[in-house]
Amino acid sequence: MFRAIVVDEGKPAEIREVDDDFLQPGEVTIDVEYSSVNFKDGLALAGNRGVVRTFPIIPGIDLVGTVAASDSARFAVGDLVLLNGDGIGESRFGGLAERARVRADALIPLPENLSASRAAAIGTAGFTAMIAVLAIERLGILPTAGDVLVTGAAGGVGSVAIAMLAARGYSVTASTGRAEAEGDYLRRLGAADVIDRAQFSDPGKPLQKARWAGAIDSVGSATLANVLAQTNYGGVVVSCGLAQGGDLPSSVMPFILRAVTLTGANSVDAPLALREQAWAALATELDLDLLDSMTSTTDLAGALDAGPTILGGQIRGRTVVDVRR
Ligand SMILES: NC(=O)c1ccc[n+]([C@@H]2O[C@H](COP(=O)([O-])OP(=O)(O)OC[C@H]3O[C@@H](n4cnc5c(N)ncnc54)[C@H](OP(=O)(O)O)[C@@H]3O)[C@@H](O)[C@H]2O)c1
Repeated sequence: MFRAIVVDEGKPAEIREVDDDFLQPGEVTIDVEYSSVNFKDGLALAGNRGVVRTFPIIPGIDLVGTVAASDSARFAVGDLVLLNGDGIGESRFGGLAERARVRADALIPLPENLSASRAAAIGTAGFTAMIAVLAIERLGILPTAGDVLVTGAAGGVGSVAIAMLAARGYSVTASTGRAEAEGDYLRRLGAADVIDRAQFSDPGKPLQKARWAGAIDSVGSATLANVLAQTNYGGVVVSCGLAQGGDLPSSVMPFILRAVTLTGANSVDAPLALREQAWAALATELDLDLLDSMTSTTDLAGALDAGPTILGGQIRGRTVVDVRR
């Protein structure tokens, strides 16, 4: 028997004792050590049908653990592995349990210089931030191009995005609703400037004073529209979230008059090669003291409480779940 958080349709999430027969089919069975709490996990814990595709579900879009059984030639018993997305915690059982059975397709070995708990601290949020940083680079925005804006700055995606952009030499402006409480934290992560998110929250003009060479946006809605309207000629904006909303009340003006590129970051379906590239960069470049400073740890019961907190935009950085505690 092992403990798992289980969400049944229309019922509050709860911790249950289940056995291996409860798990779904999959090539690799894992003794999970750590998971984490992402915005999407908050939605799944609340039984949100936009995220949860099948009930009952074990939530948890991240897991890090040790292979207990494997039908995959890529993994052997005892290997330390990590998985972000690939449908776990949404359409397949996820990481908020002491045991998981998953497909091998998106599973990767734990990078050598990362502990299991730090890999969970990075998790989907950090992985997404890294995909976004790689997109900015791939589309030609170098540190010399100018300032890069990060919205939702004190959240999980935002925090790692700031740290990784700063580590790669970019001048980062952090946009937050918590400038007073979290300004010092954001500067420690590497933000050169911290600004109030209120200036992006309401609908604005289709073109505004150009300020940003690039942007990583986890907020969406009017915020993303205003960011696009303020992006320099040839700039690149990466949309990776919808903390304000999933709408985009914008116009064609930033594209046809400033040649702005709007692209996306998707952690769930990212191909294996991108997963390996992003994790190799995170494992070698992310300052581990900074990572520790943005991380808090809780247990399975604490994950239940963290759900509403992250949906309220009140979590700073990353929350690791020590599932065996
Ligand atoms: N594309 C992908 O694959 C992918 C992967 C991971 C996450 N996401 C999405 O990215 C977003 C961030 O995820 P996360 O895990 O980093 O969540 P998070 O830790 O809750 O961070 C979100 C941040 O957005 C800001 N925010 C919250 N409500 C807002 C509002 N109404 N208006 C403006 N800003 C608001 C807050 O930052 P401040 O307090 O600093 O303002 C909050 O900390 C979510 O929408 C999530 O679903 C997407």
